[in-house]
Amino acid sequence: MLVVTSSDLSATSDVPTSDLRHLRAGGVSVVVDVTGMPAILYWGADLGDLTADHLQALETAGRLHPRATGFDTGRAFGVLPEAATGWFGIPGVSGHRGGQDWSPSFVLGGPATLSTSPDAEILTVDATDPDLALTVRLELELLASGLLRSRATLTNTGSEHYQLDGVTLALPVPSEATEIADFTGRWAKERIVQRHEFTHGSHVRTSRRGRPGFDSQLVYAAGRSGFGFGHGEVWGIHLGWSGNQQVYGERMPNGVAVLGAGEVLLPGELILEPAAAYTTPWLFGSYGIGLDGLTARFHEFLRARPIHPVKPRPVVCNVWEAVYFDHRLDRLVALADAAATVGVERYVLDDGWFRHRRDDTAGLGDWYVDEGVWPDGLRPLVDHVRGLGMEFGLWFEPEMVNPDSDLARAHPDWILSLPHRMPPEARHQQVLDLGHPDAYAYLLERMDSILSEYDIGYVKWDHNRELVDPGHHPDGTPGVHNQTLALYRLLDELKARHPGLEIESCSSGGGRVDLGIIDHTDRIWGSDCIDALERQGINRGTSSLLPLELIGSHVGSPTSHTTGRTHTLAFRAGTAIFGHLGIEWDMTAMSDADRAELTGWVALYKQWRGLLHSGRLVRADHPDPAVWVNGVVAQDRRSALFSVAAMASTVTASVGVVRFPGLDPNVTYRLHAVAPEGSAAPEPRRRFGLGLPDVALPGRVLARAGVQLPPVRPESVLLFAADAV
Ligand code: GLA
Repeated sequence: MLVVTSSDLSATSDVPTSDLRHLRAGGVSVVVDVTGMPAILYWGADLGDLTADHLQALETAGRLHPRATGFDTGRAFGVLPEAATGWFGIPGVSGHRGGQDWSPSFVLGGPATLSTSPDAEILTVDATDPDLALTVRLELELLASGLLRSRATLTNTGSEHYQLDGVTLALPVPSEATEIADFTGRWAKERIVQRHEFTHGSHVRTSRRGRPGFDSQLVYAAGRSGFGFGHGEVWGIHLGWSGNQQVYGERMPNGVAVLGAGEVLLPGELILEPAAAYTTPWLFGSYGIGLDGLTARFHEFLRARPIHPVKPRPVVCNVWEAVYFDHRLDRLVALADAAATVGVERYVLDDGWFRHRRDDTAGLGDWYVDEGVWPDGLRPLVDHVRGLGMEFGLWFEPEMVNPDSDLARAHPDWILSLPHRMPPEARHQQVLDLGHPDAYAYLLERMDSILSEYDIGYVKWDHNRELVDPGHHPDGTPGVHNQTLALYRLLDELKARHPGLEIESCSSGGGRVDLGIIDHTDRIWGSDCIDALERQGINRGTSSLLPLELIGSHVGSPTSHTTGRTHTLAFRAGTAIFGHLGIEWDMTAMSDADRAELTGWVALYKQWRGLLHSGRLVRADHPDPAVWVNGVVAQDRRSALFSVAAMASTVTASVGVVRFPGLDPNVTYRLHAVAPEGSAAPEPRRRFGLGLPDVALPGRVLARAGVQLPPVRPESVLLFAADAV
């Protein structure tokens, strides 16, 4: 690691020197000009040791020509872009005092500070615009994983309030980044990849839904045209925030291109009183060769957090698609027995246990165990589940309220709305104002009380509608920002009161998946769609950001409740084990053969979860779009588990040659098919004597020459283990 300060640069006397810093970590270099507000001159592959003269020359050589900028100076644009510098894109700070003080031009209060630890290189600058009475602190951190993250804190130092409309940060990408890949999606089909040219102008992805949404950008990437999972330089960003947001790519005719993001503030949502400050969410930037390179940095960063779950991810039984609202104790007990038999370790009672909740039209907000349905409370079920050696989990949807509930009748003023009208109902529900201290206190007391009364190790925290006209009572001032912060507080408070409690973030499936919520929860529910064919894509997309141990992934019924497609157990389970495994299927009604096979899959997951939940994710770029190859390679590269999924009929008559990436090139592996005990999975049809391979080959051969696979049925999956020999 080399730190160059302005004093080191005094040797280069013939050109005006700049204060340049070279951050290096995890195979990434970031060169930052901190002569003024930080401007990134380079972000990409490690540049190696650079002398002060090299850095100075890099800065000079990279200056924009006046003809490109239209201005006489060619200084790079800042991470907090300032219109005052001639930046015509989305500005860093938007705000004003009654139409004045709207274009800040910050001047550093002193030299940037750089602190270095094994975890991160942290560059901090404090700057001020005395004329506008604003100060800003900008933090830029290059983490050990090579992940770059940045945030800004804006403080109003004036004597009048400052109306803040938004703070956005932007990271530059080189001209090579000519193609964008980001995500869109809808309920039950999250993480649809959309690829398009990175043309001039702004491509802005915005959520004003009060959550990132099913169509959230998740990872917004730009790279060399045609980049894949394993090839092509690619830069990607993610905003660690669970509320309104915008994420964008912006390319200027002067050759400058940036990836940027920030919270979206509703009109008048954030008024900074004198001395008040606003801190942006973290903007994460990841650089890599191929999307796998970019993804690996997110995973390494997440796994290094002290709060990252370390205990083996228990096999879940979620009762939702097995019983829905049919909460009969005998039925739920029988399901628990069946679950324990196949090896389930955590049993989650879903929606329907609380007062007035006989279907989805009533009861949300009335967080008392329904005395009619549960005359002895939840204890008979909880005790039974615990007696079988499983953890007990319980569903809540704390932020929501049905108008048909005792809560809504007693406290209509706790509902986020405008003074003169109610938002349209969605799933018969409205949103509680967590920014209302009494509403917040009520939820804390109710949840705390139930978690104290019963032996509950896990909460499934749902959030089933978007926020429309989210105004505080009584004047209707916008409340998404407060709502998001209060949500984080509530999650933390419950965890502090109940040490060891794990929380799943569900939002009608994957509507709230982001690095903000994941700092307060332990699992996300990837989607309400458990159809394995859809889940291959949903999980593949979600794992671009989150490692598999954080992605709830269930085996559903033979016929999917959301799509009506029917799949073999081998395809359903072979897909679901690449995640945090669960089962959401009425196990009391399954055949003995299914039970035996499912037991085998659960055992297989338990055998492999250590590797799946710690290893490096690889996704191959297979020429046939119907063939998806995913794998996880142990960090020491002694073993790996791969899945080869036929998403449709293959273009060629057999699967053809499959390459297995990510292994140690110089180690020889035995590559062989893996199937659970008791599996009824059909062998691929043997043609011309070709069965499944069982070969010993060096990693470089498996990655380059690959292995011929026989024909397989569409919508099926094969698993292969690679063991170092
Ligand atoms: C949402 C969740 C489901 C289930 C239902 C219960 O749709 O995503 O998993 O919990 O709510 O109402």
